[in-house]
Amino acid sequence: MAPRLPRLPRLPLPDLPSLPAPLARARTRALASTRRAGVNVLMRASEIPVVRPLAELGMRTMFDTLAPSWEAIREDPTYRAGFAEGLDLLPRGFRPRRVLDVACGTGLAASFVLDRWPDVNVIGTDISPKMVDLASELVPGATFQVASVHHLPFDDGAFDLVTALDGLLDPPELLRVLGRKGRLLVVYSKRGTTPISRPLHDLVMEFSALGGIATPHTDGASHVLVVRHGR
Ligand SMILES: C[S@@+](CC[C@H](N)C(=O)[O-])C[C@H]1O[C@@H](n2cnc3c(N)ncnc32)[C@H](O)[C@@H]1O
Repeated sequence: MAPRLPRLPRLPLPDLPSLPAPLARARTRALASTRRAGVNVLMRASEIPVVRPLAELGMRTMFDTLAPSWEAIREDPTYRAGFAEGLDLLPRGFRPRRVLDVACGTGLAASFVLDRWPDVNVIGTDISPKMVDLASELVPGATFQVASVHHLPFDDGAFDLVTALDGLLDPPELLRVLGRKGRLLVVYSKRGTTPISRPLHDLVMEFSALGGIATPHTDGASHVLVVRHGR
């Protein structure tokens, strides 16, 4: 089982004063850059086991704070088109029975999976309890739970399809829960330019060092990696 994380107090964010339009735009850009830098630092820190618990607390706090506005951010159609394209890259006739969506946020990828295969069993996991609560409301056909991608509370080979849409990755852990004939679908929206994206060639090397076979696709609206176990 994944260790239970302690609850953090809500961040005391002050209401921002209203500003003339050019200053307000500059402030929005500055906040976006700060968030981008913050996500980068936390992602790097998550890869180092000794500081991972702190990085996870940071991620959780940041995404709990973002959760109420996440659906509005995800209204941008490029996020949606990109994930659908990723599903189209799965082998012809591929039909999963159990699907795991890691770093599920408010459940966007899970809802796409259910649109495509209405009777599959879909589980979404995320480090942010607020994201998980919203996903449970918004996508009642799937189940959602709080779990870190670094400690997935599932058996080896439990899923036919594992998806990550702009999600934090842990390649060994993702391959562990993927069935022998399953597929892992990694989708980075906006052609891999969002803060959480990693270069696909790095991931290809990393999965191949773990015995996986990873095929990158960079010609669509998103950067997509389809991974399977090697023989
Ligand atoms: C960029 S958002 C993407 C959310 C969702 N997949 C979507 O496309 O709307 C990244 C998500 O990763 C989650 N996350 C960050 N660190 C995580 C970790 N260690 N384990 C699981 N989820 C994590 C965040 O809470 C957030 O919901």
